Amino acid sequence: MIPRYLLSFDTESLPRIECDVLVAGSGVAGLSTALAASRYADVLLVTKSGLQDSTTRVAQGGIAAVLGEHDTLEAHVKDTLVAGAGLSDPEATAVLVEEGPARVMELLREFDARFDTIDGRLDLTREGGHSTARVVHARGDATGSEVESALGRALTSESRARVMENAFVVDLLVDGGVCVGALVSMDRGQNLAVVRSHSTVIALGGMGQVYLVTTNPPVCTGDGVAMSFRAGARVGDVEFVQFHPTALHIPEEPKFLISEALRGEGAWLVDFEGERVMEGVHPLAELAPRDIVVARMVEVMKEQGRNHLYLDVRHMDPDVLRSRFPTIYEHCLEAGIDITRNRIPVSPAAHYMSGGVLTDMWGRTDIEGLYACGEAACTGVHGANRLASNSLLEGLVFSHRIAEAILRGHAPGTMGSASIRARVKASGPHVREELLKGNFREVMTDSVGMVRCEKGLREALEFFQANAGVLRTEYLDVAGMELKNMFTVGYLIACAAARRLESRGCHRRRDHPEPDDWNWRRHIDMRLVDGDVSFDTRPQPSKPPQELKTYTTG
Ligand code: SIN
Repeated sequence: MIPRYLLSFDTESLPRIECDVLVAGSGVAGLSTALAASRYADVLLVTKSGLQDSTTRVAQGGIAAVLGEHDTLEAHVKDTLVAGAGLSDPEATAVLVEEGPARVMELLREFDARFDTIDGRLDLTREGGHSTARVVHARGDATGSEVESALGRALTSESRARVMENAFVVDLLVDGGVCVGALVSMDRGQNLAVVRSHSTVIALGGMGQVYLVTTNPPVCTGDGVAMSFRAGARVGDVEFVQFHPTALHIPEEPKFLISEALRGEGAWLVDFEGERVMEGVHPLAELAPRDIVVARMVEVMKEQGRNHLYLDVRHMDPDVLRSRFPTIYEHCLEAGIDITRNRIPVSPAAHYMSGGVLTDMWGRTDIEGLYACGEAACTGVHGANRLASNSLLEGLVFSHRIAEAILRGHAPGTMGSASIRARVKASGPHVREELLKGNFREVMTDSVGMVRCEKGLREALEFFQANAGVLRTEYLDVAGMELKNMFTVGYLIACAAARRLESRGCHRRRDHPEPDDWNWRRHIDMRLVDGDVSFDTRPQPSKPPQELKTYTTG
């Protein structure tokens, strides 16, 4: 059902570009990998839009790291494992938490990121699932934009880094089991080129656009997961799609995020009558892990026959709201909502994929020479549900590890030069791509969304089978190639969701409402074998929490 390549090509007849390290994607993971690698290698960073067009830029909340006086590494590890609902990898989590503070300080000291401070100390806030205040933020609620600008500035002044904007990575090139670069389409599909590299890093972000309602910008079409899967890499945990509880409930695309940090500072989640819906549901109330807040919202909205709830911040100091959350305050005001006087209508929206291309502790995938980082990767940290503000952190920590791994394994020599060719038959069905895309996003939202059941998932899989022809159609334009990537990733999510017969983390099944540790404390991995999805399950390696490593403080 899934062809190996999106396009017909012959590398012999295409222009060739060479670099030591090809980095695909320009969010925190891509920029940070490119920066770290460009200290010792020639790096080419390719991004399908502008350098700053990524989910990172719109991230509001912040970066979680143990920097507070009373915080501990154990506490951050524990919070991450609890949010991950039994499927986070303890080793990867320890790496994330231990190396996180140094990465944040590097952003501050080396790259001049201006994080918010109080009396000369970092101003730390709290978000869902965190047992204490440990989230660093910038310009109130514009953390991602600050990080993206700081890293972007640094990268553009690196002499060994080149940036290619408006260049779409079509497919990875693999020769003899080794990734030797990628096929890149430039000028909106007009020109193809071959990029030959010793190492290739997929940092292409998330896939929120497969859903009708998402906080992700239009560039998030799952390209990294889809192309790595086509190239033969294993992907895992993709059924765990996180819905953010509080997207602004007005008709706009993508949905504007109302940061969890607002709840961290005291916002209440209330129903139409003004009753707080999280009280008595979880000890952390509004700050329970996201999956728990979303599940409760779905329940209340269903009971009350509504499609949204409200965040109420009217009990908070208006001056603090305006200065601490300027982006949210302004955006809501532009929509006619003065948050100091009005309740904010909110509903959940697709936000983050916890799974992705499987990697080890050094970002290495199953394919030699291919690395994955950021939301496209599955390092194992997030398990069945990502802890708030761990994503920018993951991008920072693992990008550095990838650069280190590349440096260690770097042996300059001849570039892979074998010719690779593909022939894609343009034999697909007659469809209008825009209509099919709309229908596909509707199916994903209805049947593979926040709450799933066997019947819906079966119907979704039938939809994919019936429309599989689109994957055989050759589109030369970026929109057509993105459609095929979205279709591929949507299919993988539906396949894994249909197999997981339990509810865990952000995967909820109406017909299997409880977690089933005995059968399902396992990961679902998928790989492309002869054009079809081959499944495997992998037992969770984690030790029970009481056996986890203990840290010495100081
Ligand atoms: C938020 O600000 O609520 C989003 C942060 C995140 O997704 O980690």
